[in-house]
Amino acid sequence: MNIQKAASLKSHNTFGIDAIGDLAVFQSTEELPALMEKTTHQPTLILGGGSNLLFTQNPTGWLWKNEIKGIEVLDENDDYVIVRSGAGENWHQFVLHCLRNNWGGLENLSLIPGKVGASPMQNIGAYGVEIKDIFHSLQAIRISDGILVEFDNQSCAFGYRESVFKRKLKDQYIIVSVSFRLSKRNHVLKTGYGDIQKELEIAANSEPSIQDVSRAVIAIRSTKLPDPNMLGNAGSFFKNPVVSTSIADSIQEKHPELVFYPAGDSAVKLAAGWLIEKAGWKGFRRNDAGVHARQALVLVNYGEASGKEIWQLSEDILLDVQAKFGVTLEREVNII
Ligand code: FAD
Ligand code: EPU
Repeated sequence: MNIQKAASLKSHNTFGIDAIGDLAVFQSTEELPALMEKTTHQPTLILGGGSNLLFTQNPTGWLWKNEIKGIEVLDENDDYVIVRSGAGENWHQFVLHCLRNNWGGLENLSLIPGKVGASPMQNIGAYGVEIKDIFHSLQAIRISDGILVEFDNQSCAFGYRESVFKRKLKDQYIIVSVSFRLSKRNHVLKTGYGDIQKELEIAANSEPSIQDVSRAVIAIRSTKLPDPNMLGNAGSFFKNPVVSTSIADSIQEKHPELVFYPAGDSAVKLAAGWLIEKAGWKGFRRNDAGVHARQALVLVNYGEASGKEIWQLSEDILLDVQAKFGVTLEREVNII
């Protein structure tokens, strides 16, 4: 356990915002009762890798950073394995561990920053896969009474960038481990999304493995998304909005090139990056807050931007997209 009052949070968030807060780092659930005593009250924020949040002010109250480690197999047969990871394991390192063992299911989710414990929070997703597709269960401590509770797939109420932990149970649980059901044989690869197929063709790969798909995803992501170690960001700042087909039709009348995907009966998901680019924001910069030049959905910190400046930029974009297209964007990043 490591406790620091008035710590710099700059290296604890991938936007690189220079906020100050009281920080407690813990490595096991056994430390929690003592932590509760030492920090005199409950945490106001559980921190993972800080890759999906924006500090717009110095947080009041304690931040508890979860560094619980350990990966273990809970069950397996010839077809599948159930593998459990501590919440504090790095997500991409966990994916690489599974790839080394030839367990299929996580390959499309390669190179997503952050910790395993945050992955159920917004049901992380990329390239046609969301964790709900391979999620088995998770264990979480209820903050009010310290009881360990198990959640299955259904009780997490996963949706697109959604879970019960972002809604009804917000700030009520500390996720301590997450388990996944991965394939050991007859795994069906998902290579239909975006440029994966093209990337595999470049590698002249007609019978790709899970490792090949992972390499393809890493190659695509590296060309589009800024590396937070080089340029502060938290990935997509907004969600891709789901709208009625009639709204999409009216936009498409003026813009036949509109980018959208099917999203159930009489609804479509629009590419927010397209809306923001079309509204003229791609590559925009105000002081050190900006819109990424290769991906308009990603807001960036060129160095010394404050969280408030980034938030204000997001608000200006939101209002402009609303005025130009009649579509209200929703922030995906957690605003603190
Ligand atoms: P944090 O930012 O630390 O926390 C996020 C939220 O989860 C906070 O509300 C926090 O309180 C809560 N939380 C964290 N850990 C716990 C815990 N153990 N128990 C309870 N609550 C907890 N996301 C995608 O879905 N798909 C992508 O393709 C993707 N690409 C990205 C690319 C880049 C370059 C970046 C910077 C981010 C990207 N993201 C993506 C967003 C981010 O990587 C994910 O949301 C990730 O899961 C956040 O993990 P974290 O540990 O950094 O969480
Ligand atoms: N587009 C533009 N201009 C841009 C960016 C995108 O026109 O500046 C259009 C393009 O037509 C492109 C389409 O939008 O084909 C989709 O873009 P991309 O494939 O880059 O994906 P995205 O919809 O912008 C989503 C996720 C990402 C995830 C990728 C790949 C959300 C909010 N974002 O982005 O997740 O990695 O798909 O699956 O759903 C994240 O959540 O932080 C994140 C990075």
